[in-house]
Amino acid sequence: YSLLPHNTFGMDVKASLFVEYESVEELRSVLSDKKRMAGGWLHIGGGSNLLFKGDYAGTILHSAVRGYEVVAENEREIEVRAGAGEVWDDFVAYTVRNGWYGAENLSLIPGEVGASAVQNIGAYGVEAKDLIVSVETLEVETGRERLFTWEECRYAYRESIFKKELKGKYIVTHVTYRLSRQPVFHLEYGNVRGELEKQGREVTLENVREVIIAVREAKLPDPRVQGNAGSFFMNPIVPRKQFDMLQQQYPDMPHYEVDGSRVKIPAAWMIDRCGWKGKQIGRAGVHSRQALVLVNCGGATGDEVISLAMQIQQSVFQKFGVAISPEVNFI
Ligand code: EPU
Repeated sequence: YSLLPHNTFGMDVKASLFVEYESVEELRSVLSDKKRMAGGWLHIGGGSNLLFKGDYAGTILHSAVRGYEVVAENEREIEVRAGAGEVWDDFVAYTVRNGWYGAENLSLIPGEVGASAVQNIGAYGVEAKDLIVSVETLEVETGRERLFTWEECRYAYRESIFKKELKGKYIVTHVTYRLSRQPVFHLEYGNVRGELEKQGREVTLENVREVIIAVREAKLPDPRVQGNAGSFFMNPIVPRKQFDMLQQQYPDMPHYEVDGSRVKIPAAWMIDRCGWKGKQIGRAGVHSRQALVLVNCGGATGDEVISLAMQIQQSVFQKFGVAISPEVNFI
């Protein structure tokens, strides 16, 4: 089974089996087929955060659990439950169409609803965790349903319990998000406000969505044209003491406060400063407009991309003494 249409990096690899299910009951019956599951399994969403190193010997699972449902509302807020197999940006478009605030900054992020809750996707100062109320799952071992409250998901930057302690133990079937009926905008991060002003546009839900789509399209390569998985690395979070020392040496180093004792540094800026932007090694390269994005220049293997990534990690560590780690999952 070809995985080419299921990974945005454009790796031409195969899996033994690909199973798509449309309901929780169907997923439960797939999971109960112990013989099939014993060969190993991997649940994917849009395949936009994966790098296949070669063929996958086991079963690939994909959710086609769809639909949106308003589960609670009052005059200030609304709660919407979405199927894990919904395309994330379709969900954002649906919230914007309905005049519900909160998800617009996450416009055009690739992937699906299920992954938003596992990966805590984020952009322009908003993260999925700011909207999530609860996450419904099936336990792989038992097929039992379990609802995780927001607290239980233990969200942090690009992190959740589903990526850590409970990795591979639960499959997300539905996510409930809380949106606001009253305008609340986040416009400072990444200069969204400046972009609106430049274009002479009012601050409205539709305009914020459109401006963010335009910024992303200008900076990030289209995977249909050039294979990639968005940001390849996470932005490292360092102790304030270390940041203060770095800032003395590099006064123009951009940064975001995480809390009193930690600071997040854009990996793109450091990679750029090491001279990697636009460079190519073999068939893998560093995107010319966003140094955080590694690209498949055509026919690259997973190992070629990983070898480039390791060289970048080494040079960032040598120059800045900061370790950066991949956001993309290697399979
Ligand atoms: N920068 C450079 N050189 C570059 C690119 C950026 O110096 O080639 C500098 C910029 O000038 C800016 C800073 O680095 O000061 C940050 O750049 P940017 O605002 O483009 O965002 P980022 O930190 O590189 C993160 C997310 C993106 C998200 C943007 C916007 C991560 C790993 N990435 O990137 O998410 O779209 O912020 O909020 O947190 C993704 O996860 O796949 C992704 C694209």
